[in-house]
Amino acid sequence: MGEMSFSGGVYQSLPSQSYCDDTVFSQERTRIFRRSWHLIGHSTDIANFGDYVVEEIDGISVIVIRGQDGEIRAFYNVCVHRGHELLQGSGCTKKMTCPYHAWTYDTTGQLRAAPNAASFPGFEKEKYKLRSVRVELFFGLILVNLDDAAQPLASLAESALPEISEYAPNLPHYRRADRTDRLAQANWKVVAENFNECYHCAVVHKTLTAGVVDPDQYRTRGFDYGIRHASPARPDSQKSYSYVADPEARTDKFLTWWFFPLFALQVYPGGIVNTYRWKPLIVNRTKIEVDWWLPDSEPNAVEREIIHQHRTTTFAEDGPIVDSVQRGLETGAIGAGALVVDDACSSQSEHPIMAFTALYQGAMDIPAP
Ligand code: FES
Ligand SMILES: [Fe+2]
Repeated sequence: MGEMSFSGGVYQSLPSQSYCDDTVFSQERTRIFRRSWHLIGHSTDIANFGDYVVEEIDGISVIVIRGQDGEIRAFYNVCVHRGHELLQGSGCTKKMTCPYHAWTYDTTGQLRAAPNAASFPGFEKEKYKLRSVRVELFFGLILVNLDDAAQPLASLAESALPEISEYAPNLPHYRRADRTDRLAQANWKVVAENFNECYHCAVVHKTLTAGVVDPDQYRTRGFDYGIRHASPARPDSQKSYSYVADPEARTDKFLTWWFFPLFALQVYPGGIVNTYRWKPLIVNRTKIEVDWWLPDSEPNAVEREIIHQHRTTTFAEDGPIVDSVQRGLETGAIGAGALVVDDACSSQSEHPIMAFTALYQGAMDIPAP
């Protein structure tokens, strides 16, 4: 499937109840969250042998650790002896020793030592290995997937790769520089739909639309991997922070690749990169984390401007919006929302929610395992 197309008209959103119902949320956990790619961080977060990070993916604790051979591997954070968790948080360790009975694994997940091992007839250390989790590097970003049969992200998102290479060429070397986060009191789909449609941009995001993107030229299009957003940057006379929009250097656009269902990569004018990840905690709570990836872990003056601007305008402005929509949907007053689409699929059209719905329904139709 290439680019999706939609005709102008009035359509229905998903039923309001699907944003509020625990049963739907549990189906989404099985059919979507456990089968999709989740952003963990960047390979420069764990640059050295033994560096690790532990993250929860849909309530499942996963270790991502760099081995002596430089490979990044991921494992369920579960000791195969009797199930205790091995590591917490982040840090550096050349071996993983379980706090319960001190079984000790190397960074490839192989059991290396167990107390009193020589005295257990038939006990073979070689037979015990941590259960691995699929991991993929994507322009230096670390993604994991709990589904062993999942399509590789690089093939799923193949059509986006050339443009990402062009507009974020140095991302594989970038470092974590800043984070903005928020706990949305809203279902993850409310948050995803809000992130992807720009019908509200001119109403809610005055700084963004006046000084970063051009709503007349802002375009969003659905693909098999998710939704691409693109706009030329505002000219120097209008820009809201001190970026240099140079077409030669490919710093003259605002670009977003939103990957169904729970992460996105953005390039702001000036070539300044962030990622979004969304963590659905319960049916009406979603943690939102925005990380900025820059050439240096210390942002320069221009980078500081956009990080601050994003945190205090675009990001902050969407906070009360999604919480309010969730409260509205939970009243049961509307059975389903209206989606208004124009023939041009302009920025003032809700076709991105049609694209979201198509991806969502496709994923939910897969029979539960
Ligand atoms: S559960 Fe880990 S050593 Fe026993
Ligand atoms: Fe918004």
